[in-house]
Amino acid sequence: MVKIAPSLLAADFSDLKSQITLAEQAGADWLHLDIMDGHFVPNITCGPPVIKAIRKLTKLPFDTHLMIEDADAYIEIFHAAGADVLTVHYEACTHLHRTISRIKELGMNAGVCINPATPVELLRDILPYVDLVLIMSVNPGFGGQAFIPTSPAKLHQAADMIKQIKPEVYLEVDGGVDDTTVEAVVKAGANVLVAGNYVFGNGKIADAIRTLKKTANAIRS
Ligand code: DX5
Ligand code: ZN
Repeated sequence: MVKIAPSLLAADFSDLKSQITLAEQAGADWLHLDIMDGHFVPNITCGPPVIKAIRKLTKLPFDTHLMIEDADAYIEIFHAAGADVLTVHYEACTHLHRTISRIKELGMNAGVCINPATPVELLRDILPYVDLVLIMSVNPGFGGQAFIPTSPAKLHQAADMIKQIKPEVYLEVDGGVDDTTVEAVVKAGANVLVAGNYVFGNGKIADAIRTLKKTANAIRS
């Protein structure tokens, strides 16, 4: 089954409680939380206090996407706040194996993410240690951007590498996922779909989640 991970970045921040409840009721599998520091990416979002506050509102796993420099300094803090999956960027971690190991030691699932211009091949040596690979299909920093059309080819490559090295690793895609791109990413091997604007952008949260799920699982089966 393909998992749907709505990105809260596009939700109404003044009413997170109802937005999260609607997403959960509509069958969201994970909640994707985009953490940006204004350094690694040119935008700032929210941090551990917000995660801690919304942790009380839902049982959905928190799929936490760190777009920050110096992730090492914050691993414990995000764990304490309630992150279940903690994903760091290949481009932002000098000692990636150490970072991933620390995430695992704390009992979280560890993810590694690459930007659109970073080759998939660079993930080969870290793959045995992670639970999730996240392929960005936009340049990280903002929601609502256009899907980069070369992304399915990267997903394909990542799916092949995962199959060879560690088949249980999740392959997640993030950026511009909607009813027009879902088919291409699932056919390319993605099994966790992040969607921000498509889910929260038009007030039809439940419809959007159901459409993504139905389309994705029809392709998978
Ligand atoms: C972008 C974030 C995404 C973003 C996706 O840096 O990592 O998770 O919310 O938003 P959409 O689905 O609108 O492209
Ligand atoms: Zn994200």
